[in-house]
Amino acid sequence: MRLSLRFLIPLALVLAAFAYAAVPLVDNLIVKWFVRDLEIRSVLIANTLQEPLQDLLRAGSRAKTVNYFTRIAQDERLFAIGFCDQQRNAMIAVKSFPSDLACAEIEKHASGSTWVLPSEKGLLQVSVRTIEAEGTLLGRLVLVHDMSFVQRRSEETKRYVFYFVIVLGALVSLVTVVVAQLSWRGWVQGMRALLRGEGLVRPAEKVNVPELRPIARDVQALIRDLETEYRPKDEGQITWSPDTLRSILREDLRGEDVLVVSNREPYIHVRKQDGIEVQRPASGLVTALEPVMRACSGTWIAHGSGSADKEVVDKSDRVSVPPEKPAYRIRRVWLTAEQEAGYYYGFANEGLWPLCHIAHVRPTFRTADWKHYLEVNQKFSRAILDEAKTDDPILLVQDYHLALLPRMVREQLPKATIITFWHIPWPNPEAFAICPWRAELLDGMLGSSILGFHTQFHCNNFCDTVDRLLEARVDRESLTISYGGKPTTVKRYPISIEWPPSREMVGKPVDQCRTELRRRHNLPADHFLGVGVDRLDYTKGILERLRAVERLLELEPERVGRFTFVQIAAPSRSSIEQYQQFEVQVRALATQINNRFARGGYLPIILKIEHHEPAQVYEYYRAADLCFVSSLHDGMNLVAKEFIASRDDERGVLILSQFTGASRELPESLVVNPYDIDECAAALHVALNMSPPEQRHRMRIMRGLIREFNVYRWAGRMLLDAASMRRRGSISARTGGVVLSWPKDLREGRDFPVQR
Ligand code: G6P
Repeated sequence: MRLSLRFLIPLALVLAAFAYAAVPLVDNLIVKWFVRDLEIRSVLIANTLQEPLQDLLRAGSRAKTVNYFTRIAQDERLFAIGFCDQQRNAMIAVKSFPSDLACAEIEKHASGSTWVLPSEKGLLQVSVRTIEAEGTLLGRLVLVHDMSFVQRRSEETKRYVFYFVIVLGALVSLVTVVVAQLSWRGWVQGMRALLRGEGLVRPAEKVNVPELRPIARDVQALIRDLETEYRPKDEGQITWSPDTLRSILREDLRGEDVLVVSNREPYIHVRKQDGIEVQRPASGLVTALEPVMRACSGTWIAHGSGSADKEVVDKSDRVSVPPEKPAYRIRRVWLTAEQEAGYYYGFANEGLWPLCHIAHVRPTFRTADWKHYLEVNQKFSRAILDEAKTDDPILLVQDYHLALLPRMVREQLPKATIITFWHIPWPNPEAFAICPWRAELLDGMLGSSILGFHTQFHCNNFCDTVDRLLEARVDRESLTISYGGKPTTVKRYPISIEWPPSREMVGKPVDQCRTELRRRHNLPADHFLGVGVDRLDYTKGILERLRAVERLLELEPERVGRFTFVQIAAPSRSSIEQYQQFEVQVRALATQINNRFARGGYLPIILKIEHHEPAQVYEYYRAADLCFVSSLHDGMNLVAKEFIASRDDERGVLILSQFTGASRELPESLVVNPYDIDECAAALHVALNMSPPEQRHRMRIMRGLIREFNVYRWAGRMLLDAASMRRRGSISARTGGVVLSWPKDLREGRDFPVQR
């Protein structure tokens, strides 16, 4: 409003001045036009009267002449008419003829003259025309026009002109104000966006209002400095959400793009009979990183393993995801069948996977697999160089498939910030040392700037391993390893899941999930349901879990017919013999238990070895009375956290293996040793008998923990550490490092030792 007045008042003043000057000018002009019209009219009337008047004069009838004049003077504008007879020196005129216009007066004016005569009736215009017959002057015809209509018209004109100027002025003001408001708003919005930091995502050059660009640059720099300086150093004070991650990228990492690299891709395009289906793989790594990438954008480089993956990428092997609302892109790396066999199935999953998980499956190491592992790591490193837009990108390397990658990238991009996260456990030095390529693997990993594990135990194991197997300096206090080039910080970053869970996962009410799922499996409405969700992997303790169910039914026969355990097992790495054998064992044990306790249509175990989409898994979580995670060894285990996140009704009991990273964070679960079948059966008994208030109490605490330590915090902490590492790096790059020693010229002649 104030803004509008600021425009309107000066504009109104200008318009008033304009009206003041313009109205008299227009009026003058119009009066002149009317006077000129009257003159033309007088000439016309005089010419028309010429002959009849001659006849009347010749006839010498004064009365007839007056009558004739009276008839003509009935014209609205003709006020009076008169004739000044030259011969008789007498005036013949209508009654209304002005008395002060005597013949003597008229004779002073030449034929054709016109003048204005003021009278009681208003202004009159007088015109004089001579009337002649055969060259003899008969007299002067005097036509008196009423000029009041000119006055009236002049008033009207002035009024119209005045209104016209007002309306025009209002329109001009309106348009001006609207245009001014719009451009002002653009400025203000631009400025606000800058202050909010939105303009900081893109470079100042791309700020919408060009005039604001220089200010944008300065404001960006200022805000960055202020925010970096005043960021709460206690991460507990931060509310961790996608926005927090975005602001860390924007402010602490100056809008850098994030490159993620992993073997497994987040979306797999699979060819089906009726077209292409998009699947989301069962992988803790994907569960955790996918929401992070949705928040951060950037590029995720991964193995294109789906049967239709090649059909959907562009010419640079990229595809935007999630398909329904693209937020980042996948860059797919293609592997030959031999490479996949040697690198993925062989070295990664027959060698490193059992090596790191103490699950009593012997690791197998083959030289041919190692060569493929090396080759594929190089392939991924080339893809990273392709995708990096700067010489110091932020790269998040994921898991044991790519242990050599950090060093390979470091050699090509020495300034890159490389954060490697190891999603599986790290064994003790003795266990790791059996790997024939242990030194190469450690060297590869130490190309990272930051190396993350889920637990402090795994960090310690890693440092011990390096200490034992490499000539490296391990600083136990700061957990920093110096080996060759740059130091690597080893740190604990417990991984987590998205919080709050998306609507897609928890949209269906718990009651509905319970009813529908029981109906689908032909179970009564009050039937107790337990659930296990895993990849079909020997590290997950699925056999131990089924044995615990069997033991429960043995010890509590009244549960038979009233409790069912649903085991969802996503087929995994099925080309590997140990996995094939494992599947046979799981199927056999489930059949054995079912045969033992089957009653009518009742089966205690429902084994579902098939792919389930995340929303389907959540339906099971929400329908169940308990969830059993019995891994023999697990880096974190996100199924445990997903189950808790799914239970917004604060019901359900989690039974959790003590050998998962998650058990350190979730002591309110029923923590068990999966190798102790009786203990696990007892946990099932406790879970099935736990009162609702007790369930609620435990659930609340665990939900609070996941809310606070969600996956955004996991990624955010790593990115903040990367940012402070980059800041420190930029200081030493500027100063060239400070050498604490005396210059040679000062040193000479002194008698104290110099330390460098
Ligand atoms: C574990 C690994 C992940 C892997 C996932 C699924 O969680 O840490 O890297 O993606 O298992 O295994 P897969 O072999 O199917 O990728």
